[in-house]
Amino acid sequence: ATSASLSGRVVTITAGPTREPLDPVRYLSNHSSGKMGFALAAAAARHGAEVHLISGPVTLPTPVGVTRHDITTAQEMSDTARQLAKESDVFIGCAAVADYRAANVATHKIKKQANRDGMTLSLVKNPDIIADVGGMTEHRPFVVGFAAETRNLEHHARDKLERKGLDMIVANDVSLEGLGFGADQNAALILWRPDATTPLQRRELPARDKAALAETIIGLIIERLMTSNDSKQTP
Ligand code: C5P
Repeated sequence: ATSASLSGRVVTITAGPTREPLDPVRYLSNHSSGKMGFALAAAAARHGAEVHLISGPVTLPTPVGVTRHDITTAQEMSDTARQLAKESDVFIGCAAVADYRAANVATHKIKKQANRDGMTLSLVKNPDIIADVGGMTEHRPFVVGFAAETRNLEHHARDKLERKGLDMIVANDVSLEGLGFGADQNAALILWRPDATTPLQRRELPARDKAALAETIIGLIIERLMTSNDSKQTP
């Protein structure tokens, strides 16, 4: 189904992995497929939003009506996200951002050392992109994060929501077979805070296609935008 419930709204979404170079031929990365972020971008576009999709290296086609910004590293994703967040009504962090990058990227291919069995890489922390957006004090969008966990799902999701300053969090149990990373289906626990004084609300969504899950998440975001608009209206 299509609707114009997000028309006039700007939605920025991060998706896929980031890739952190070690030398000209090697990198650190993860198995994120980008499917969930791309499904969210497609759903937001169907609802009439102007959608910006900041994507790491993935093998997915750009959804219809979506502006794609291809990046490689977390630093590049962060730079693009900071620019776009200021202009956005909604920011969804769906990317699997590498937490660390090489302290120094070697200019030439790192050679195997004949006389050493071990090798130590020195890493430094990458920026936490969604926490930066969550902490914005001006033109702050509605901020939605993801949490992939293997245990204590709700506890970790609540902690991330608070710590990163999010408005909503979508938590996935990635220990479940056939769900999450790379899969076509996902189950989720969604938590959000209606306002500063109300306790967290929760919705549990059983396993479904990532497209269907994306549609539900975008629907919940639309509800939140409507409610905050109502409360801002002056008689
Ligand atoms: O702490 P963790 O990586 O599990 O948090 C996941 C959430 O934070 C996701 O929304 C992810 O996109 C976002 N994130 C980010 N920048 C990072 C790490 C995670 O935006 N450096």
